Amino acid sequence: MPPPLWLMRQAGRYLPEYRKLRQRARNFLDFCYTPELAVEATLQPLRSFQPDAAILFSDILVVPDALGQVVDFREGEGPILEPLRSRRDIEGLKAERVLRHLEPVFTAIHGIREALPPQTALIGFAGAPWTVAIYMVEGRGGTDFSRALGWDREDPEGFAMLIDLLVEATGAYLIEQVRHGAEALQIFDSWAGALDEERFRRLVITPTRKLVASVRTTCPDVPIIGFPRGAGPLYDDYVRETGVDAVSLDSGVDLDFARRTLQSRAVVQGNLDPQILVRGGDEMREAALAILENLGRGPFIFNLGHGVVPETPVENVLQLAATVRAWRP
Ligand code: CP3
Repeated sequence: MPPPLWLMRQAGRYLPEYRKLRQRARNFLDFCYTPELAVEATLQPLRSFQPDAAILFSDILVVPDALGQVVDFREGEGPILEPLRSRRDIEGLKAERVLRHLEPVFTAIHGIREALPPQTALIGFAGAPWTVAIYMVEGRGGTDFSRALGWDREDPEGFAMLIDLLVEATGAYLIEQVRHGAEALQIFDSWAGALDEERFRRLVITPTRKLVASVRTTCPDVPIIGFPRGAGPLYDDYVRETGVDAVSLDSGVDLDFARRTLQSRAVVQGNLDPQILVRGGDEMREAALAILENLGRGPFIFNLGHGVVPETPVENVLQLAATVRAWRP
């Protein structure tokens, strides 16, 4: 049997039907909070290339929004947040609001699960505390993280208050996703690679371990996938110490290292370069086969090393799915 396959950002702007659906909402957060639209966006890739899992259509920044921070998505600019500047700003955020505010997401999860065939898994997700904290402090993407890193350097206890708040809010959010029908969870730590080893332990491994433990108190059996993008050799400690069941590999992770060091301890997921998916052809086929040959005989989920980018030809996604499905161990 070939391994299961899904793609990060498998719903989104590379799909013409997504671009059309997206026009029905005033802004991106409204889109995420309209269950009918979120359900439809989640299901679109299933009709196009039949991945083995659906991932909830939402965003990691719904958590800061639910905590009461001002979050805005501007067309062509990405997310803009009213940045946190002080401990007082953190104290103004309210973890108790989160579940009520995110009720439309839970309604969407319920609707997705009802619409999915039984063999298709539904993956819920959230951003990891460190990655979400970056957006909350920087106020936008595309920065060098100097404000977040500077805050942590000058006032580590204050920055830890924010991380702890996110562990609490995100734990509650993920548990509620499972209660409404999510069957696996992924924790996106997209900016884990920005940290040196000491900070990686303190800001990535420790909060993720707490988050995993808190989900497990209520949902002991839900599989949890961690994605510490850019962690390099620290992928090993991340897998050993956080308690995740599976680990999503970015495209820079060496396949021999993944097989020898990570795959004996966890399911591995990944890691085709999304830019190779844009180019397609023989290069894509060969890169996909190299991943399958290296990792496909152990516990493995085929995926990309990061999300599908908007310029990806849909045709290439269909060819990738055909390549994976034709492979045999
Ligand atoms: O994978 C999926 O199909 C589920 C949907 C999903 C989205 N965002 C939809 C989205 C998931 C899992 C995310 C996670 C997310 N969001 C991450 C972690 C993964 C990663 O990519 O590193 C991060 C860092 C964000 C924050 C975010 N959201 C940014 C930086 C942007 C702007 C960049 C961009 O691609 O436009 C978004 C917006 C966003 N989230 C879009 C989609 C489909 C595009 C908005 C639109 O359609 O107008």
